[in-house]
Amino acid sequence: MKKRILSGVQASGTPHLGNYLGAMKNHIAMQNSHECFIFIADLHALTTVRDPKKLHESTINLALDYLALGLDPEKTTFFRQSDVHEHTELAWIFNCITHMGLMERAHAYKDAVAKGLKDATVGLFTYPILMAADILMYKPDLVPVGKDQKQHIEIAQDIAEKFDHHFGATFKRPEPYIPEDVATIIGTDGEHKMSKSYGNVIEFFADEATLKKQVMGIKTDSTALEEPKDPNKDTVFKLYSHFATKTEIEALEQKYRKGGFGYGDAKKLLNEKILEYFAPYRKKRIELATDLGYVYSVLNKGAKKAKKVAAATMSEVRKKIGLELEN
Ligand code: TRP
Repeated sequence: MKKRILSGVQASGTPHLGNYLGAMKNHIAMQNSHECFIFIADLHALTTVRDPKKLHESTINLALDYLALGLDPEKTTFFRQSDVHEHTELAWIFNCITHMGLMERAHAYKDAVAKGLKDATVGLFTYPILMAADILMYKPDLVPVGKDQKQHIEIAQDIAEKFDHHFGATFKRPEPYIPEDVATIIGTDGEHKMSKSYGNVIEFFADEATLKKQVMGIKTDSTALEEPKDPNKDTVFKLYSHFATKTEIEALEQKYRKGGFGYGDAKKLLNEKILEYFAPYRKKRIELATDLGYVYSVLNKGAKKAKKVAAATMSEVRKKIGLELEN
């Protein structure tokens, strides 16, 4: 039997190479080897978004991104979190068995407060509980996520433990799946993880001028054009390596080591490579955007499939905790 994976994705505007290499590509590749559940975490987005139009648009855009990149809705159960009401029900039940201390130790909340967030909402505080509900509901074997989400999976494991201890064996212990080579993509500042919050992103679905500007803005060291350069220390080279063939990578490596080849030249190559690599996906995305009816129908069908699994888990849970009356 195929192993089941589940992952949620929070919409955050135009996707960047970090999103793609760190998550999306991997999610899509797994649809052939695993039983996949991928959902758009719009309820989690509510912790930061208060503009209904924006929430709606970002949900559709994320669906378009995934479908354009090759997510196959016949293989992957692809849905919108808020369409499956069971998530919020299970989250409430978990709220009632989770101690404050466990939430207080969660990095995401602590970091947000440390960064000066005032008036934090309860939703942000209990974000990991909803995430535990998302995960445990589907009893997945693996949860592919970035390193920053590892603690959230551990919290889900703790909650599963707690529930099972009180009410009897119910949930599978989910394991995080963090492929080493794609775990962290460094941004154009050459320093931090690629992320919107650092403003160091390369958005592969952006218009060509924006894309080029982002690539040309990659920070490089001050080695002069004539001098040899160490490819392994350079962000342009590292990014190029993710998209080029082995032969192309070796050719570029030689140019770096020989000297007489500037970072500007390398950036042009990278820009072309990104355009070439994403060309079919960019085309597909434009096509899909003209038929949003199709996108809605994909999400509706996905929600129906997800709901079957979710309803079965909830029936089990409700019986165990005494919410469902049996004769
Ligand atoms: N918190 C995750 C993120 O920001 C998104 C998410 C929500 C998720 N629910 C999930 C990821 C369940 C994996 C499983 O990336």
